[in-house]
Amino acid sequence: MNDSTPVLHAQTLVKAYEEGNNELEVLKGVDLTVHKGDILAIIGASGSGKSTLLNLLGGLDHATRGSVSIAGTSVASLNDRETGRLRNRYLGFVYQFHHLLPEFTALENVAMPLLIRGEKPADCQARAAAILERVGLGPRLKHKPSALSGGERQRVAIARALVTEPALVMADEPTGNLDERTAAQVQALMIELNENLGTAFMIVTHDREFASRCPQQYELHDGLLRRL
Ligand SMILES: Nc1ncnc2c1ncn2[C@@H]1O[C@H](COP(=O)(O)OP(=O)(O)OP(=O)(O)O)[C@@H](O)[C@H]1O
Ligand SMILES: [Mg+2]
Repeated sequence: MNDSTPVLHAQTLVKAYEEGNNELEVLKGVDLTVHKGDILAIIGASGSGKSTLLNLLGGLDHATRGSVSIAGTSVASLNDRETGRLRNRYLGFVYQFHHLLPEFTALENVAMPLLIRGEKPADCQARAAAILERVGLGPRLKHKPSALSGGERQRVAIARALVTEPALVMADEPTGNLDERTAAQVQALMIELNENLGTAFMIVTHDREFASRCPQQYELHDGLLRRL
């Protein structure tokens, strides 16, 4: 992928869910291009299709019509295994609930995506430790998720998304489960990581104030994505 290739490109994406005899068209033709280093917020009412959109863009679900390209490769031409490989190489994901493995430490959780790739355990540990330091969790490497605060768990989840050095992190309400102050700290962290690592971030949020601090803001409404 050269610098001018978009990390993500979606064209006239349509997603319809079958509901008995009815069809619910959630997305009605969404266009979006994300470049290296972009940071964009997506807002929209509950049920407007934000998570649906992220799943399509991340190659986790298939569109009814339209196309998605990740790092210049059209997902439509790939099988599930190849899509998975493309996703693992270029994208990272953070969710509202951290989805950390409870029986593993912060360090082990963050090292996991690298271990799964078959990299050397010592390298995995070193890289996981470095990124945990980076998100301010140097003193918490050996803690299990149950021994971390909500904000710390989301920092671990962000570190896990970043450890593979993705071009883009897609975050679905990453601060939706945090109190206002902790949410603000995690939001500031994502903006700082974007500025300093150059990782692109696409963040679904209900927080309009946070959205307004992101250079690009979009609203999903009536199945269409509109730049604000
Ligand atoms: N697998 C599915 N089958 C049928 N309908 C679905 C499915 N997934 C989502 N929907 C419907 O599609 C619409 C959009 O859902 P989605 O989860 O994308 O909304 P959202 O914008 O993420 O909402 P929230 O802010 O509450 O997370 C909703 O009406 C939902 O009921
Ligand atoms: Mg959602």
